[in-house]
Amino acid sequence: MSDTYAKLVGAPGPAQQLAKKLGLPRPARLRRTDPTSVDRPLTPGPVLVLSDAASTADADTVAEGLLAWDLDVHRDVRLPDHARWGAVVLVLTELPHPAALSAPAMQLGSVLRSLAPGARVVALSRRAPGPDTTTAPAVAAARAGVDGFVRSVAKELRNGATANGVVLADDVDVRAPSVRGALRFFLSARSAFVDGQLLPVVSGAGSEPADWARPLAGVVAVVTGAARGIGAEVVRVLARDGAHVLGVDVPAAGESLTSVMNEVHGVALQLDITAEDAAAHILDVARSRYGHLDVVVHNAGILRDKLLANMSAEKFDDLTAVNVTAPLRMNETFARPGVLGSPSTAPRIISLASTSGIAGNRGQTNYANAKAGLIGMTRALAGSLTDAGGTVNAVAPGFIETEMTASVPPVPRQVMRWASSLQQGGRPVDVAEAITFLASPQAGGIDGQVLRVCGQLQTGQ
Ligand code: NAI
Repeated sequence: MSDTYAKLVGAPGPAQQLAKKLGLPRPARLRRTDPTSVDRPLTPGPVLVLSDAASTADADTVAEGLLAWDLDVHRDVRLPDHARWGAVVLVLTELPHPAALSAPAMQLGSVLRSLAPGARVVALSRRAPGPDTTTAPAVAAARAGVDGFVRSVAKELRNGATANGVVLADDVDVRAPSVRGALRFFLSARSAFVDGQLLPVVSGAGSEPADWARPLAGVVAVVTGAARGIGAEVVRVLARDGAHVLGVDVPAAGESLTSVMNEVHGVALQLDITAEDAAAHILDVARSRYGHLDVVVHNAGILRDKLLANMSAEKFDDLTAVNVTAPLRMNETFARPGVLGSPSTAPRIISLASTSGIAGNRGQTNYANAKAGLIGMTRALAGSLTDAGGTVNAVAPGFIETEMTASVPPVPRQVMRWASSLQQGGRPVDVAEAITFLASPQAGGIDGQVLRVCGQLQTGQ
C-alpha cells in the first residue's frame, strides 16, 4: 500500500519545504532487505564494539564473532577516513552498577552524529532479576537501567537508524546461537521496523544455520490467513529463506491464495480456521505432502471495531472465534509432544498479537481481548516444546500498511504513522522478517516472548 504523505514529503519540492516549515515529520526511507542479495552487506558501514570495563572479555568475544561474519569491526571511536558507522554494538553483560554505563554511553553519544542512514545500535545486556533472586540491588538497577537507556536512544536516532537490545538470561553465554542470531537479526536489514525493543534470550538452545541466507532449508511451515497482507508476505519470506510453505485461507479468498502459493511453489489449502478439525486437516496435508510439519504461524485475523457501548455480541464473538479461540483449539493439537518437527527440524509456533493487545485501543475491546489473549497463550506454552528444541513466541505488529488498516479513516491512519519513532507505518514484509527469524534455528533460545514490530510505537511499551 503506498503512503502518499511519505512520497510527497520525501521528494524535494514544495511539499517537502512546506512540511519542513510546519515541523511535520519527514519519515526516512528504511533499510530493508534486497530480495536479490539478502543480508549483503549486513551493515551499511563499519561496526564499533563498545563495552563497560567489566564486560571487556565478552566484548572481545562478540567482536571476534562479528569478524567471522566478514564485518569491518573496530574497538576505537575514531572513525576510519570518510566512513560512517554502520552499527554500534554495546556489550554490557557484566555491568555492575548504573554508574558504570556512563563511559560506554558517552562513547556512543560521541558517534551518534556519524551513523550511516539505516545504522543499528544493539545492546547486549543481562535480564533484570525477578523479586525472589539474590542479585545485588545495584546489579539489578544496572540491568534494568539498560532497558530505559536503549529505548531512549531509539527515540533520539534519525535517518532510519534503530536501537534494540538482546537480553541474556544469567546462564546464557554471548556465544549462544540465539544471542548471535538475535544480534545478527537486529544488525541486518531484516529488522527495519523493529525499534526500541529488548528481546530476551532465555536459553543456550538453537543452532547456527549452515547457510545464513537459507536458514529454513528443509523446514515445513503453515501460515493461516495467507491470501493477502501480512500472511502473504510471511509465505514469501519463509520460502525465500528455504522453507516449504502451506497457506491457509477461507474459500472466499481462494483465488488470491492460489496465486500467492503458486509464487512460492507452495500448497494452497482452503479452510476456515474456526473449523473443529482445522489442525488435523492441516497436519494431514503437510504430512502427506512433505512428511512432517514444523512451523505454525497463527496469522489469520479479523477486525470488528466498535466502541463497547455500541458493540454487538455477534461482533465480539465472531472476532474472538477467529482471533483467539481458533489458535487455542489448533494448539491443542500442534503443541502436543511429537506432533510438530522432525529429527532434523525443530517445532515453532508463532502467533500474531498486536500492540493493541499490549496498550489497549479505543474501539477495539474485542480485538485487544483476543490479541492480549494470544500473548497469554504464548507465555503459557513457553517451554512446552523445549524437549524437541521447539519454541512458542508471538510477534506484535504496530501500524502496518495492509488492506486491513486501509479501512482506518485517513486522519487516525496518519496519526498512527506519526506515533512511532520511525514516523511511518511498517510494511507486511517487516512483520514477515521477524516471524521468519523466530522460525529459524538461530532463534531456538527465544521462547515465550513477544517481539514488537512497531517502529517503537509510543503506546504500550
Ligand atoms: P488482512 O485482513 O489483510 O488478512 C487477514 C487474512 O486472514 C485474510 O486473507 C482473511 O481472509 C484471512 N482470514 C480471516 N478469517 C479467517 C478464517 N476464519 N480462516 C482462515 N483465514 C481467515 O490482515 P493483515 O493486516 O494482513 O493482518 C494479519 C494479522 O496481523 C492479523 O492477525 C492481524 O490482527 C495482525 N495485525 C495486523 C496489524 C496491521 O497493522 N495490519 C497490526 C497488528 C496485528
